[in-house]
Amino acid sequence: MTETLIQKAYNEVKKNKNKVMNDPYRLTYHIMPPVGLLNDPNGLIQFKGVYHVFFQWNPFDTAHGAKFWGHYTSKDMVHWREEPIALAPSEWYEKNGCYSGSAVEAGGKLHLFYTGNVKQENGTRETYQCLAVSEDGIHFEKKGPVLRLPEHFTAHFRDPKVWKKGNLWYMVVGAQTLDEKGAAVLFHSKDLFHWEEGGTIAGSGMNGLEDFGYMWECPDLIHLNGKDVLLVSPQGLMPEGDLYHNLFQSGYFIGALDYERVKFQHGPFTELDRGFDFYAPQTFLDESGRTILYGWMGITDELEEYQPTIANGWVHALTLPRELELRNGKISQKPVGELKQLRKEREFVEGHICEGISVELLVDFVKSAPFEITFRNEAHLSFDSDKLTLKRRNLRTGRLETRSCKIASVSKLRIFMDHSSLEIFVNDGEEVFTARYFPKPDDVTISIHGEAKFNWTKWNLGE
Ligand code: FRU
Repeated sequence: MTETLIQKAYNEVKKNKNKVMNDPYRLTYHIMPPVGLLNDPNGLIQFKGVYHVFFQWNPFDTAHGAKFWGHYTSKDMVHWREEPIALAPSEWYEKNGCYSGSAVEAGGKLHLFYTGNVKQENGTRETYQCLAVSEDGIHFEKKGPVLRLPEHFTAHFRDPKVWKKGNLWYMVVGAQTLDEKGAAVLFHSKDLFHWEEGGTIAGSGMNGLEDFGYMWECPDLIHLNGKDVLLVSPQGLMPEGDLYHNLFQSGYFIGALDYERVKFQHGPFTELDRGFDFYAPQTFLDESGRTILYGWMGITDELEEYQPTIANGWVHALTLPRELELRNGKISQKPVGELKQLRKEREFVEGHICEGISVELLVDFVKSAPFEITFRNEAHLSFDSDKLTLKRRNLRTGRLETRSCKIASVSKLRIFMDHSSLEIFVNDGEEVFTARYFPKPDDVTISIHGEAKFNWTKWNLGE
């Protein structure tokens, strides 16, 4: 059964590959699906020196469905190799999808933890936290469910993230309580096969948080500069001023986790990204000690089905890898240094206009003052007094829509444009705006206007 399912997926890749390759909106230096739909990054790890990125994948359609784990590897996070499918939803405990999860190395083997998603014919949902193990990092042997649903949560219980501390393994799972509140639940294990519940470490209605969503997806617990940081993607937050305008959010709580008492004292929630397309991020600690994040450069919202790439057999991509640091009580994100390998010739731009489709721009402001940058006549970034705003054309209505954040001043922008994506790193990653956009393929104009004085440099990018 597994063979045929995997074979079918490869046939689908073969069938659509040319269409995808010829799409003018295809990304050239971001991770995207070979064909079909990609969503969350999964199982991020550097294993025996090699970077592994797995991803939620529906090879059969540009819509959601029974997910596979697709797989890429790299020595430098720049040049990627497509590997065989890592997980296909072939068993009873995952028949409607090998959902999101994470990876750890133990005893020289790569261990993948993921959610087996099951939807019964009568509409009920089941969830199993599963394990698959590999010696070579490429071929996986499924060990089946290692954690069943505890009775005080609904079946919206998924996305295990595993790590080691001292002699124990820990797992945090995204959950929904029986009264439909989002939560992050901690488990521990001695051997990765037997898991015990420690307790809920954070959630809607806990720790001073009032209504904070009906479900928390993709939790991730990391350690940065002596602090414990819980990253999570809550569903069900209402917009508040400039905040929470995407359908679902991704952000973090900084605090201290008492592992013994299973208590996480934490501060307020901060969004990780200020743009339109960012969700379900995951991090990993690489062999050089960097905490690196990939996010899904997309979101399951009403615009998904309007994406023009669907006509060419694919949809969505991952963000660039970003190194995280804790600076002044806030996470800053900067593109990993390896990405400089993508730079081709450098141009010191004179005047207000340059050209590019797949470029990196560095804009150094001599003095912070209002400006507006227009990207290929389809998206605009503007700064005025204390607000930075990104506008792009809404795929359904055709009108401009905005995302904004407060910022005291703008001294530096580092912008990565790929054929249909924008990632804007502000003041060395103090804020990031991530968005997909779909300019006319032959429109290459980038312009800056306003009072601000600046120097800007451009690199064409390519492998
Ligand atoms: C987040 C998510 C996860 C789930 C996966 C399914 O985007 O909904 O909670 O595991 O996607 O593809």
